[in-house]
Amino acid sequence: MTRKKLFSQLKGFAHGGDYNPEQWLEYPDILEQDIALMKKASINCVSLGIFSWSFYEPEENLFQFDWMEQIIDRLYENGIYVVLATPSGARPAWLDAKYPEAMRVDSYGVRNHHGNRHNHCMSSEKYRELVRRIDTRVAERFANHPAVLMWHISNEFGGYCYCDKCKERFQSYLRKKFDNRIELLNHAWWTGFWSHRYNSFEQIEPPYSNGETSILALNIEWRRFSTWNATDFMKMEIDTVKPFRPELPVTTNFMMMQVFDDYDYQKMALSLDVISWDSYPLFHNDFESLEDTFLLNAFNHSMFRAMKQDRPFMMMESAPGLVNWAAVNKYRRPGIHELAGIQAVACGSDTVQYFQIRKGRGAFEQYHGAVIDHAGTDTTRIFKEVAGLGQGLNRISEVSGSLHRNKVAVIFDTECRWAIDDAKALSEKNKKYMDTCVGIWKELMKLGVEADVIGKDNDFSSYKAVFAPMLYMVSDELGDRIRQYVKNGGHFWTTYFTGYVDENLLCHLGGFPGAGLTEVFGIISEEIDAFYPSDRNHVHWNADGNCSEVVDYAEYIHATTAEVLGIYTDDYVKDQPAVTVNHYGAGIAYYVACRMEPRDMHRFLEQVCTDAGVPVKKNLDGIEYHVRYGNDCAYEFYLNTGNSDRQLSDLDGIDLKNSQKVSKTMTLKPREYLILKKGIG
Ligand code: GLA
Ligand code: ZN
Repeated sequence: MTRKKLFSQLKGFAHGGDYNPEQWLEYPDILEQDIALMKKASINCVSLGIFSWSFYEPEENLFQFDWMEQIIDRLYENGIYVVLATPSGARPAWLDAKYPEAMRVDSYGVRNHHGNRHNHCMSSEKYRELVRRIDTRVAERFANHPAVLMWHISNEFGGYCYCDKCKERFQSYLRKKFDNRIELLNHAWWTGFWSHRYNSFEQIEPPYSNGETSILALNIEWRRFSTWNATDFMKMEIDTVKPFRPELPVTTNFMMMQVFDDYDYQKMALSLDVISWDSYPLFHNDFESLEDTFLLNAFNHSMFRAMKQDRPFMMMESAPGLVNWAAVNKYRRPGIHELAGIQAVACGSDTVQYFQIRKGRGAFEQYHGAVIDHAGTDTTRIFKEVAGLGQGLNRISEVSGSLHRNKVAVIFDTECRWAIDDAKALSEKNKKYMDTCVGIWKELMKLGVEADVIGKDNDFSSYKAVFAPMLYMVSDELGDRIRQYVKNGGHFWTTYFTGYVDENLLCHLGGFPGAGLTEVFGIISEEIDAFYPSDRNHVHWNADGNCSEVVDYAEYIHATTAEVLGIYTDDYVKDQPAVTVNHYGAGIAYYVACRMEPRDMHRFLEQVCTDAGVPVKKNLDGIEYHVRYGNDCAYEFYLNTGNSDRQLSDLDGIDLKNSQKVSKTMTLKPREYLILKKGIG
C-alpha cells in the first residue's frame, strides 16, 4: 500500500486544535497575541466554529459571518489552516425557546430544559431544518476559503432521546427491519416470555427506565436504532456541506472507548472520509501504571486507526496539561505531553491537536488545559512543551502519510459489548468485556506484536491471526466467516462466552459455541461457572507443567476433535479441558475456557503468534513499540512510557530525530523515544 497524505496543503503533520475566538471578540489584542503565540508553537491548524451558532445566528434568520471571515483571513495570512465545524453540537437559547422539540427527552419521558450541549433530538424535523439552514450558510460562506482543510461535523455525537418522534422513528425502523410483520419481531425478540407479545409495531416503546427493559433484543435494537439515527443526522449534515466543495474531507470527533459506548462507531465510520477522535488518557492515576495508561490510549488509537486502514487518522483533541472533568484533574508531568503526541503519531495519526488553544476566561471549561493559559505568555511550562513537540513534529514530517500493516487483529466489538453488558448472566461486576479485550491486546504489545482493533463485521481475511475474546454474539453469517477464515489457513483464538447468541440475542441451539463453531473449535461448552472474588481454580499447562490461576469464569467443556493444551486442577471440573487447539482445514482454532490474567498466558500467546508466522520481538525491555510503513521504508517507534531506564538492543537504522545512524544498543530514559527509519525490500 502506498502512502496517503490527509492534507496536500500541509508539509507534514497537522499541529493545533480547537480554537474558540468567538469568546474573545471583545478582546482584539488577544486574538492578535494568540496568532503570534500559535506561530511560536509551530501550530499550523485550528478547529473553528464548533460552538459558534449563537454568534453566526444571534437571532433567528439574522446571520453574521464577517467576524469569522476576518479571523480565518488573519489565520491564513499567518500560515494557519482551518478545520471548520458545523455548529450543531450546541444550540442558541432562542432556538430552544422557540422550538422546544429540539431538546432531548430523557429515559423517563421528561423533556430536558435548555442548556449544556450535545442534547438535541436527532429525529426532530424542525431541528434538522434549522441545522441544514445554518450549515448551508456556513458552507456557502467558507467552504471555498483556501484556509479550510476539512469539515468537522458537529461535536462528539452521543446519547439517546426518548421523545415521541424518536419513538415513532424507532417503530418505522423496526417495521422496515421486520418486513412489517410483527410475528417476525415477536419470534426474534422471544416476546412470549412473560407474555410480552406485541400486536402491532405501534405498541413498541423505547426502553424507558420505568418501562420495558426486560426484552434484551429490544434494548440492543434501540442502540442500533440510535446509532442509525445519529448516523442519519450526521449524513444529513454531510450532504448539506459537501456540495459546496466536494473534495473537502469530512470527519466527526469520536470519543474514547472506556467511557463511551452509546453508538457503534464502526458503523458510523462508514459515512466519514477520515476518522478522528478525542484522546484523554488519565495519566498518573492511582489505579494503573503509567505504561498501562499509555497502552489503553494506544488501544483506542488502534481501534480508530483500523476503521480506515488506507489512510492516517487524526487525534482531534487531547489535553495540554490537564482536563477539568476527571475525578482528579491532574497535570501531565514534564515530558508526558511530547510522548503522548508521539504515541498518536506512532499509532498512525497524522495530527496532534488539542482542546484547546486558549483557555476560556469563564464558565465550565475555564480550568481545562490549553496551549495558552490565562497568563497569556509563551513562558508557561505547558506552552513550552507544546512548542517543543511542534518542533519535534516538524523534524519527523516525512513520517506523515505512512501507514500500518499489521498482521494480527483483536476483535473488540460494540454490539458484543452491549450484549454482554446487558446479559443476565455471569456475575454483575466482573463481565469486563472491554478489559478482557484490552488485556489481550496489551499482552500482544508486550510481545512486540502490534494488533489492529477491529469489529466483528470487519473483514479479517488479511490477518494471520485473530484474537476474539468473549465473542458472545455470533450470527450464522459470522460463524460462516470464521469457519472460512480458519479453513483457509487463518489462526483464530477465542475464549469462554463465545458464540452463545445470534444477532437477536437468541441462544444458539445445539451447543456452544454455536453458528457452526463447535466443529471449528472441536469442543462443546456445557456450563459457565461464575466465581466469587475469592474463588480460584488453576490451569495445568500440559506442555511445560506450569500452572496459571483462574479467576471470574470457568466453562465446563468437552473436547470432541480438539487437542487439550491445559486442564483444570481443582473443583468439579478437575482434569477437564481448560485450553484447547483444533486443526481445522488449513488453519488453527484455539479455545480458552476460563479467565486467566493475560500475563499468565504470555507464553501461550507467544506460541500462537509464532505458529501463525508473526514474529515476536525480544529486544523491547518494556518499551512500547509501533511501526508505520512508507513505500520503501519502515518507521519503528520505541517509546519509554515507564519510570525507569530501558535498554534497547539489536537496533539497526537511522535515528530520525538527528538523522544519524543508530548504534546497536541504546538506553532510553523515562519519557524518551526513538524513531528508527529502516529500508525494506
Ligand atoms: C470534549 C469536547 C470539547 C471539550 C473537551 C474537554 O472532547 O469535544 O469541546 O469540552 O471535551 O476535555
Ligand atoms: Zn427525540
